Order: sequence, then C-alpha cells, then structure tokens
Amino acid sequence: MAELVNQIVLITGCSSGIGYVTAKELSRRGHRVICSARKPEDVSRLRAEGFECLCLDLADSASIRAAVDALHELTGGKLDAVFHNGAYGQPGAVEDLSRDALRRQFETNVFGWHELTNLLLPAMRRQGHGRIVYNSSILGFVAMKYRGAYNASKFALEGLVDTLRLELRGSGVHVSLVEPGPIVSRFRENAMRMYLQNIDPERSVHRETYRAMEARLQKPGPAAPFTLPAEAVAKKVAHAIESRHPRIRYPVTFPTYLFGVLKRLLPAAWLDKILASVE
Ligand SMILES: NC(=O)c1ccc[n+]([C@@H]2O[C@H](COP(=O)([O-])OP(=O)(O)OC[C@H]3O[C@@H](n4cnc5c(N)ncnc54)[C@H](OP(=O)(O)O)[C@@H]3O)[C@@H](O)[C@H]2O)c1
Repeated sequence: MAELVNQIVLITGCSSGIGYVTAKELSRRGHRVICSARKPEDVSRLRAEGFECLCLDLADSASIRAAVDALHELTGGKLDAVFHNGAYGQPGAVEDLSRDALRRQFETNVFGWHELTNLLLPAMRRQGHGRIVYNSSILGFVAMKYRGAYNASKFALEGLVDTLRLELRGSGVHVSLVEPGPIVSRFRENAMRMYLQNIDPERSVHRETYRAMEARLQKPGPAAPFTLPAEAVAKKVAHAIESRHPRIRYPVTFPTYLFGVLKRLLPAAWLDKILASVE
C-alpha cells in the first residue's frame, strides 16, 4: 500500500534542534507542517522562513488551548499528525532537586504533552485516523546519573503513551515513541541554563561532580560518542507519519539499540554497574 502523503502535521518546540530540523524535513517531503515555538521572536523568525507557526508554551495551559484554537482555525479543524517534541533537561542529582524544579520539569515534558494530546484526540477520533508521535529518549528506559528529573519525565511519558496506545486500539489513531540517544541540538545549552537556575552546587555533596558536568554541558561540539545529527530523528518521525504500518518504538543512535538489548539481557545489578560508569 502507498505511503501517506500531504499530511497536516503539528510540531512543538521548533525554535531549534530536532523540532526545527523535523519541520524542514517533513515540509520537504510535501507535508503541510504547522510549527510551534514558545517565544514570540522564534514564531516571527520561523514565519519569516516561510513556515506556518503558532505560539505554544507547553508549561502553560492557556497557551496550549489558544494554540489548538488557532490550529483549528488555520486548518479548518483538520490534523493528521502531531510530533510532541518541545522539552528540556533539568540536570542535577536527585537529592538536589527541589519539588518545584521537578514539578516544572513535568509541567513541560509530561503534563503539557498530555494536555495537548487530549485536546487533539477528539478530532482524530472523529476523522478515524491520526498519528501521535512522541519524542522520548534512551533516557526513557535507562537511567543516568544527574539526569533524574529528565529521566523521570521520559519514563513517565513512556508509561502514559504505552497505556494510551492500548486504549486507542481500533480507533485508527496510531501512537509511536521515538527514542534518540545523543543528537546535535541546543539541548545541552538549554540544560545548562536550567542547571544554573535551579541547582546550587556549593551546597551540594555532589559539588565536585558538578564541575565535570558543567564542562560537559558547555563543551562545544558533540559531548558523547555516537552522536547523530537531528536528521536521523526526522527520518524516523517521517516513517511514523507516512507508513501504513507505523512502529511502536523507533530507536535512534547506536547507544539506544545497545542499551535496549542490554536492558533485556542483563540482570539489573550488572546494568547498574555499566550505567554508573557513564558521566
Ligand atoms: N538532543 C538529544 O540528545 C536528545 C536525545 C533524546 C531525546 N531528545 C528530545 O528531543 C526533543 C527536542 O530536544 P532537542 O534535542 O532538539 O533540544 P533543543 O534544541 O533544546 O530543543 C528543545 C525545544 O523544546 C522547546 N521547549 C522547551 N520548553 C518548552 C515549553 N515550555 N514549551 C514549548 N516548547 C518548549 C525549546 O524552546 P526554547 O528555544 O524556547 O527553549 C526548543 O524549541 C526533546 O523532547 C528532548 O527530550 C533529545
């Protein structure tokens, strides 16, 4: 059967990185892409580049509702697919995370995506088709030190999405999780900003480790081996939207494949030993 063409696709977090590159790739493939970004200056920039673009801040319910209204107005209520992508990483040891910093991590990475999904689903159910693609992470199924808030948000996302998929069986709406490992983007730069905002290294037992983490977050160029360009994710998103048989999970990068296998094969204590050695 032929692949799906000319789909109307909403993407969140298009100001940089994977969202921006995926918007370009899906447009190139002939889809009608509705971008979104949370800052008005990014919305203006993306519009100047020729994209249709909405303002959408995932941490703000009113902004999500206004964006969905604007989307329906733009497309006459039609939407074939959404790529949930806008998110950030809150670095810091678990014992240094305030309740507030953890809550804010979830507001953007989990609750905002959930609220947006719920607002888009009725129209998808009515039309009897739809694709909901979530940008999870390798950190949605294995944990790494000093990434507890982000780990928790992606693990939570995976649980929510696995459940939603079961509940959508037979509706014509398909749900996919993309699980990238290290990808070139502004992720580390943005994580550094959140680290400075919410973590006080001087009051932490982890202060020595934080010095190394700061260096890693500020290092120019790829910080991890096997880093891929954002196009590698965009290709998987395209498959999830265009294929008659979208996959449940799309691993991206060698580390994701590797740890997917190790998680299935190794006893938990062995896996911990390996993960504890990764900075
Ligand atoms: N890079 C990686 O190695 C990697 C690996 C696995 C998964 N991912 C996932 O990939 C997705 C995109 O990240 P990226 O790597 O492309 O990093 P990025 O360049 O930092 O892009 C993140 C995007 O999310 C947006 N965003 C953050 N908070 C938002 C909010 N409250 N409302 C709406 N948008 C918001 C950012 O907007 P602003 O510019 O306004 O901050 C930006 O557009 C994320 O879901 C991330 O978890 C990334």
